[in-house]
Amino acid sequence: MTKKRVLSGVQPTGNLHLGNYLGAIRNWVEVQQEYENYFCVVDLHAITVPHNPKTLADDTYTLAALYLACGIDLNYSTLFIQSHISAHSELAWLLNCITPLNWLERMIQFKEKASKQGENVSVGLLDYPVLMAADILLYDADLVPVGEDQKQHIELTRDLVTRINDQYGTKKEPILKYPEPLIRKEGARVMSLTDGTKKMSKSDPSEMSRINLLDPPDEIAKKIKRCKTDPIKGLEFDNPDRPECHNLLTLYLLLSGKTKAEVQQETCEMGWGQFKPLLADSAIAALEPIQAKYHDIMSDRDYLDSVLREGREKAEVSAHEILGRVKKALGYSTPL
Ligand code: AMP
Ligand code: TRP
Repeated sequence: MTKKRVLSGVQPTGNLHLGNYLGAIRNWVEVQQEYENYFCVVDLHAITVPHNPKTLADDTYTLAALYLACGIDLNYSTLFIQSHISAHSELAWLLNCITPLNWLERMIQFKEKASKQGENVSVGLLDYPVLMAADILLYDADLVPVGEDQKQHIELTRDLVTRINDQYGTKKEPILKYPEPLIRKEGARVMSLTDGTKKMSKSDPSEMSRINLLDPPDEIAKKIKRCKTDPIKGLEFDNPDRPECHNLLTLYLLLSGKTKAEVQQETCEMGWGQFKPLLADSAIAALEPIQAKYHDIMSDRDYLDSVLREGREKAEVSAHEILGRVKKALGYSTPL
């Protein structure tokens, strides 16, 4: 039986934090043996907001190294850089021409990001979900493991599949495949350490709001020591009046590998002074092996280059085939 296909990606902007890890990458790693996986560093998406050309290439390689350090296994997964495969931009153009403008204008992430950019909103920022749809569709992905915030983009991708298949395909021979989001309940929305009602985010101006995967142990301990809590003794999940409490317990659950019932029992009578060092220790212990592996990989640039070259060669086969399929359906001639 052929395995289902998985595709996902993260942008090389800012530092990778616990939200990216627990919401996305860790889930890729956990299920990779069951699927045929494609994981890319989406560097074309990184320029939809103002970016620094001096650091883009390094940030892209750093993120690829972090994928490997987090446990992406090349026996099951193909790792590549989005901009290395021109089919992504090309399919995005073709999809642009069949995407109604108002579908993009109502995307929540666009509205949020645009409001932060003021006058400086690029067409690329509006078009971001179309490029993401191209990423997914070029690999016939069945499943897209992401955090909760990306669900709307995958729904848009599905709407585009319907449009293309209806307009240019036949019932018997659909052109593109419907992807499904793969969203885990726990970790799908890791919240800020300074405000339990806000998502942990790369773009939060406060470093204290997030734990980065490459933060040294003393920095992690400091951030947890200072993070926002509440004055109530006894810790609990799922109390809407205690968003910080729920978030920190969820982080502890995910990082320690304990079950919800175990965490509940262990912490129900604890105060914050007792709990915070436990959480800090489990975060440090979970990140330590990732950091060690990351430094190993970064010290051997030839190895990383060869991984990305092989990844590109493999990914290109699928991207090329599917782009050809769409172009043919839209009526393009093939160059001889
Ligand atoms: P981005 O940082 O926007 O490139 O996001 C990369 C991946 O991390 C996507 O799958 C997001 O859904 C996921 N992600 C980002 N922030 C969070 C968060 N605070 N909680 C859970 N998942 C997140
Ligand atoms: N938009 C995603 C994010 O911000 C990143 C992304 C781009 C992506 N292309 C993708 C995720 C394709 C999954 C599949 O997190």
